Amino acid sequence: MSNQGLYLYPVWLRIWHGVNALGIILLIFTGISMQYGNIDYPLLPFKVSVMIHNISGIVVSIGYVVFAIANHFSNNAKQYVPNYKGFGQRIMKQTTYYVFGYFKGEPKPFPITKDNKFNPLQRLSYITVMYIFVPLIVFTGVGLLYPELIFSKIFNMGGVQFIAVLHAIAGFFISLFLIIHLYVASIGKHPLKNYSSIITGYHSTEDH
Ligand code: HEM
Repeated sequence: MSNQGLYLYPVWLRIWHGVNALGIILLIFTGISMQYGNIDYPLLPFKVSVMIHNISGIVVSIGYVVFAIANHFSNNAKQYVPNYKGFGQRIMKQTTYYVFGYFKGEPKPFPITKDNKFNPLQRLSYITVMYIFVPLIVFTGVGLLYPELIFSKIFNMGGVQFIAVLHAIAGFFISLFLIIHLYVASIGKHPLKNYSSIITGYHSTEDH
């Protein structure tokens, strides 16, 4: 620990996180524009949305491969191992803190340490988003970019249509994750202080 706080986010993780966050925001915006935009009044012209969506999708996909490899070969991977012991109780304890304890100024039930930087809800949500929804959106996205790779029929449905539905479902859950992630990251003594941790790498110890 230094006087700046706990060093939790190494450089590769911060670069991946910044590129990924920007890419995902562009993907959500252009994805919504393509799916719901009125052809006469689109949020963005359709062709522009497709172009930005394709480029950001490729960047986020390459970023995901970098994350998966770097995470696997670094100490960071141990933060993503599910801990089933007392799982329900720990989830309830953290949820009760977010809903009541935090507003009453109670201390965090799971203070951050170098070996355990995520609370049980963060761990669950990061495992779900990074090991289920991001890979799902990357695989289905590659399929939609190269439709000749997709079976013509899946479960009696057009193959491309089936993959497009899965892609949209994954997009919905990643958007939901992002909203909750932004809110939860603001929880602390100073709402903006936690955000700076993913830029500087240091988590402020005042915020324990
Ligand atoms: C503007 C957008 C975003 C902001 C401001 C933001 C902010 C943060 C902050 C402050 C942290 C460190 C504190 C914590 O662990 O909660 C963090 C970690 C993390 N964020 Fe984000 N985030 C953004 C977008 C995203 C997106 C789109 C994803 C994934 C789809 C994501 C995935 C993660 C993961 C997996 C970690 C933990 C990294 C690790 O330590 O292994 N974030 N984010």
